[in-house]
Amino acid sequence: MSFAISNVSFKSLAVVLSYNLRLCRKYSYKTVRRPDSAFVSRKLTAPQVEHMEEKQAPNDLTKHLKAKILATGPITVAEYMREILTNPLSGYYMNRDVFGREGDFITSPEICQIFGELVAVWVVSEWRKLGSPTPFQIVELGPGRGTLARDVLKVLAQFKLSKEFSIHMVEISPYLSKVQAQRLCFSTETINDENSTHYLTGKTASGINIYWHKRLEDVPRKFSIVLAHEFFDALPVHKLQRDGKQWKEILIDVNKADTTDKNKSLPFRYVISKAPTPVSHLYQPIPEETRDSLEYSLDTDRLISMMSDRFECEGGIGLIMDYGHFGEKCDTFRAFKKHQLHEPLCAPGTADLTADVDFRQIKRIAEENGKVICFGPVEQGSFLKKMEGDARLEQLLSNALPENHDIIRSGYKMLTDPNQMGKRFKFFSIFPSVLKEHLEKFPVNGFQ
Ligand SMILES: C[S@@+](CC[C@H](N)C(=O)[O-])C[C@H]1O[C@@H](n2cnc3c(N)ncnc32)[C@H](O)[C@@H]1O
Repeated sequence: MSFAISNVSFKSLAVVLSYNLRLCRKYSYKTVRRPDSAFVSRKLTAPQVEHMEEKQAPNDLTKHLKAKILATGPITVAEYMREILTNPLSGYYMNRDVFGREGDFITSPEICQIFGELVAVWVVSEWRKLGSPTPFQIVELGPGRGTLARDVLKVLAQFKLSKEFSIHMVEISPYLSKVQAQRLCFSTETINDENSTHYLTGKTASGINIYWHKRLEDVPRKFSIVLAHEFFDALPVHKLQRDGKQWKEILIDVNKADTTDKNKSLPFRYVISKAPTPVSHLYQPIPEETRDSLEYSLDTDRLISMMSDRFECEGGIGLIMDYGHFGEKCDTFRAFKKHQLHEPLCAPGTADLTADVDFRQIKRIAEENGKVICFGPVEQGSFLKKMEGDARLEQLLSNALPENHDIIRSGYKMLTDPNQMGKRFKFFSIFPSVLKEHLEKFPVNGFQ
């Protein structure tokens, strides 16, 4: 792949922008505290257990999972997560809006418009740095309510780029894809052809085409800017545990009725595999791995390899925004319901399941064949400030009614304050290796 390369000053781009005012949104954000890390024999306090017993009427997903386990034996945590989040009939994401004050958690684009605007400025500045290849695709993985895409579209329109690109949403949820389409499109069409690579298409008021795909492999192979905000944390993880020289896997089994364990009110329990499993065999730890237990996402590996391959062959860049660590955490698998931590084995399908993203593993997989180079992870607060977030905040305030100043300031503070979302949430970018020298001269915005 070759690029015509020109550089662009980020500040000049920021000056071009004249934003409309939309208030920061006022909600709590997805807590990132970890639950009890003794996940194999999870101890629960009495009030928690009571809370669970109260809510324990088995739902369809519980019955389905129990039947499956009784028929074929304990399942992996990854399979449990996949069923709960994306089971076509009753998966958590499939039939409802789970975001915001009425939902279970709130994400950065939903908190304050500055987030999406600065991501858009990053997109434009990095695209121009690559010589403004056209036409290009903006691909968003797991777009939620479509709020990030809406803010990105708004800023790209300010740059008069509406004719240069199409948008490709990778969204598994039929319900959320409709929410996104309603928010973004002037007209839509459902595609019923099973040979089609997209299942929904629409046009924005300014004529930009948007396509919805179930999988990244269905997105056309063209120059793409891939955005993923709180997507990788929703992908299933396997939980592995070292046993001498080999790795075994934590599995999920049906809880026996006669157990004397305090967790007896839960429908399921964690067990350790008797022998290595396919994934514990497949997993290749780095030689210096010191952890005795860890979470490993095969789905993330697969998607990152696919992105790296596409970026090398057709060109493109990726921006991953998520909470995560650099290979030091062991147990981050958790559930959220109504903005509170929730027991992941309780009332499956009624709460979000998530695990921190392992950026060290993403970097390792992305760079293993030399196709791409990675930057970050950097902290969200640092990224947003380097992208001139403070200046944007002042600009917003100068256009806002005085009674709205507090909500705008508190939204921006929530995104950037190290004690709120500023440190725990990270930005990570992926570029084709062919750009290495160019990016040394003109570093990636927000990652310098
Ligand atoms: C935690 S939400 C994040 C939403 C949005 N990016 C935000 O930050 O507000 C995860 C999103 O990914 C989608 N999703 C989850 N698993 C998916 C999968 N395997 N393939 C495609 N989309 C998926 C969900 O439906 C949802 O839109």
